[in-house]
Amino acid sequence: MSTNALITTGIPSTLPKGAPPVRHFLQFSDFTTDEHMYLMERAAFIKKKFKAFEKHHSLVDRTLAMIFEKASTRTRVSFEAGMYQLGGSVVHLTTGDSQLGRAEPIEDSAKVISRMTDIVMIRTYEQAKLERFAAHSRVPVINGLTNEFHPCQILADIFTYIEHRGPIAGKTVAWVGDGNNMANTWLQAAALLGFHLRVSTPSGYEVNEKTAAAPTSMGSGSYKTYEDPLQACAGADLVTTDVWTSMGFEAENEARLKAFAAWRVDRAMMAVAAPDALFMHCLPAHRGEEVEAEVIDGPQSVVWDEAENRMHVQKALMEYLLLGKLS
Ligand code: CP
Ligand code: NVA
Repeated sequence: MSTNALITTGIPSTLPKGAPPVRHFLQFSDFTTDEHMYLMERAAFIKKKFKAFEKHHSLVDRTLAMIFEKASTRTRVSFEAGMYQLGGSVVHLTTGDSQLGRAEPIEDSAKVISRMTDIVMIRTYEQAKLERFAAHSRVPVINGLTNEFHPCQILADIFTYIEHRGPIAGKTVAWVGDGNNMANTWLQAAALLGFHLRVSTPSGYEVNEKTAAAPTSMGSGSYKTYEDPLQACAGADLVTTDVWTSMGFEAENEARLKAFAAWRVDRAMMAVAAPDALFMHCLPAHRGEEVEAEVIDGPQSVVWDEAENRMHVQKALMEYLLLGKLS
């Protein structure tokens, strides 16, 4: 056989016949309630094995591409360590060290990267950019944070709540602070998982219901806004917040410091919450700004479990996107 024939009879440039349709996780509402419940159970199983030092190599020979257009500590470490623990490997790209920073179209980047890797995680600015990448990707794409959403973080937060307190359905979560990517994602989670969300933001920084486009399947009562953060926290089972200035909004920092001064989660807010209320923050945190040190470093805070759980839920997520439900 000639070399030419060997090449032309090689691997076709289309996906194999019978391959399952590619699924992406671009926002929390891309998955159904059942799928989210499965991910929670699977993450618990994977975490238990990890803690027992048991090998769990479900993604041997699979490669994750991670693309960062914004900074990260937790997202990078959790995806990278998680993929290695599953027996796979990782390629790490940033805007600065790839052609993405030199204006190669996102569509072209998606076509190329998704021919050489099996799954892609992207942290970028506009959700629309992530969607354009996904539309041209042959492999699953995961949102590692956009201006609009941070769905992997909310997976970890829900998992952490369940781990500490049991089912979250019917419970009350208070969001205090910016109506940002985290808040939008909490809105979607409340609608899908059946808990009550109370949102208190300064005027001008409200959540944009249209952006969140929270599914209404659980009824429109899944979230309510409060002018007074103390009122939002009254009786809440979980109080949570985030930075006042998200990545990409640094120019607004000074104005935000003034606008958000009354939205610092402090001991008074935790005191009116349920006696066994938890405190969460996706981190990085600014003590003395969005949260008092006594709260984030206090007994109700579960922020370190929350950070660790990013890895366990994302392992379950990558497995699910590549292999489907496993028993
Ligand atoms: N919470 C979170 O996504 O952290 P990083 O920005 O460090 O990834
Ligand atoms: N809302 C923050 C989350 C950081 C993990 C941001 O987008 O910068």
